[in-house]
Amino acid sequence: MRIETERLIIRNFVMTDRDDLGEYMLQRVNKEFESYPDFCTDKMDDEIKYRSGSQEFFAIELKDEHKVIGNIYLGVRDFNSKELGYVLNENFHLRGYGSEAAKAVVQWAFSQGVHRVYAECTPLNMASWKTMEKIGLRREAELRQNISFHKDEADNPIYWDTYIYAALSTDDI
Ligand SMILES: CC(C)(COP(=O)(O)OP(=O)(O)OC[C@H]1O[C@@H](n2cnc3c(N)ncnc32)[C@H](O)[C@@H]1OP(=O)(O)O)[C@@H](O)C(=O)NCCC(=O)NCCS
Repeated sequence: MRIETERLIIRNFVMTDRDDLGEYMLQRVNKEFESYPDFCTDKMDDEIKYRSGSQEFFAIELKDEHKVIGNIYLGVRDFNSKELGYVLNENFHLRGYGSEAAKAVVQWAFSQGVHRVYAECTPLNMASWKTMEKIGLRREAELRQNISFHKDEADNPIYWDTYIYAALSTDDI
C-alpha cells in the first residue's frame, strides 16, 4: 500500500528502512506504556525483515526528507475489523504527524471495505487517546483494571484501565 498526505508517505516497509526503524525502536526501551520485550540493536535485522513482509505494519515517511519517523499498525481482526496502533520517533512528536498518518490510514482502510477500526490504550497515555479523538474515533468503553504489564516493589501486579476507541466505515471521519 502507499498513501500520500500533505507531509507524509505511508507505505510498506523496505529493507533500507532498517536504521530509521532502529532509531525509534531503541527509544522505546523501558518506556512506561510498553508491554513488549525490550528492543536492542541485535534485533534490528530480524525486525526489518519481518516488517518488510508485513501487511499490518506500515512505515511513516517524511515526504521532504525521505526519513521514516515511525509506523502505523493496522492489525487484522475478526468481523472485518482492524486494530490501529502507532508509534513515532520522539524527535518528531507533537507536530501533528501522528494524527495526520492515523487519519489517512483509517480512511484508507474504510475505502478498502473495512467495517470497523478500533484502538486501545491506557487512560495514562494521553498522547495516544488524544490522537484517537483528534482523528474522529469515539470512546466506546473504559475497562476497569483489565491489564497488568508491571509489578510494584512487593511484586504485586499494577493493574491499568483500558480505553477503547473506534470508528465505523459509516462514520464521518
Ligand atoms: C501517540 C503518538 C503517535 C502521537 O503522535 P504526535 O505526532 O505527537 O501526535 P499529534 O501531534 O498528531 O497530536 C495529536 C493530539 O494529541 C495531543 N498530544 C500529543 N502528545 C501529547 C502529550 N504527550 N500529552 C498530551 N497531549 C498530547 C496533541 O495535542 C493533539 O491533540 P490536539 O490537537 O487536540 O491538541 C506519539 O505520542 C507516540 O509515538 N507515542 C509513543 C507510542 C505510543 O504510546 N503509542 C500508542 C500506544 S497505545
